[in-house]
Amino acid sequence: MSTTPMKSTDLQALEPKASEFSPEVTARFAREVAKYPNDQKQSAVMACLSIVQQIKGFISPGDELFLAEYLEMPPMAVHEVSTFYNMYNLQPLGRFKINVCTNLPCQLREGQTALDYLCKKLDVAVGGTTKDGLFTLQPGECMGACADAPVMLVNDRTMCSFMSTEKMDQMIEMLRTLKVDGVQS
Ligand code: FES
Repeated sequence: MSTTPMKSTDLQALEPKASEFSPEVTARFAREVAKYPNDQKQSAVMACLSIVQQIKGFISPGDELFLAEYLEMPPMAVHEVSTFYNMYNLQPLGRFKINVCTNLPCQLREGQTALDYLCKKLDVAVGGTTKDGLFTLQPGECMGACADAPVMLVNDRTMCSFMSTEKMDQMIEMLRTLKVDGVQS
């Protein structure tokens, strides 16, 4: 079987282009940068990534390129931050991201059982999103609430503790009924 070699123009087309943001959004970036000394604008990278995620729901390679240029840091340094913290979404997810802690202390107190239960209840694999686009289920690292296990975090902000099967059922039903103004990333 013969294959056609890729041309350099083909490769260029695969490279992401820096995203564009409105003046309102860049003003928000600027407010974060202003919190640090002039020569330390890179310190605002986490806040700027959070703003992007808040607006778009996830962070694309083009967004990282924009922030690298804006904050005058290497694109890889931005990518290192966005991939280190699991609160950053690097692809579109369901409306509600549920992170179930499966770190060891929680494992000893039904953390994995809780994740398995939700997988079965929502008919989705770990890391997957339900067909209706409502829920993405992910395992999480220690959330600093080991004594409250099983624990889970909804959209990186709402901590849910002592999650028995009854409480998980209630949580899912409550999230299903939330309107657009409900829990958001
Ligand atoms: S190990 Fe789960 S919150 Fe600490």
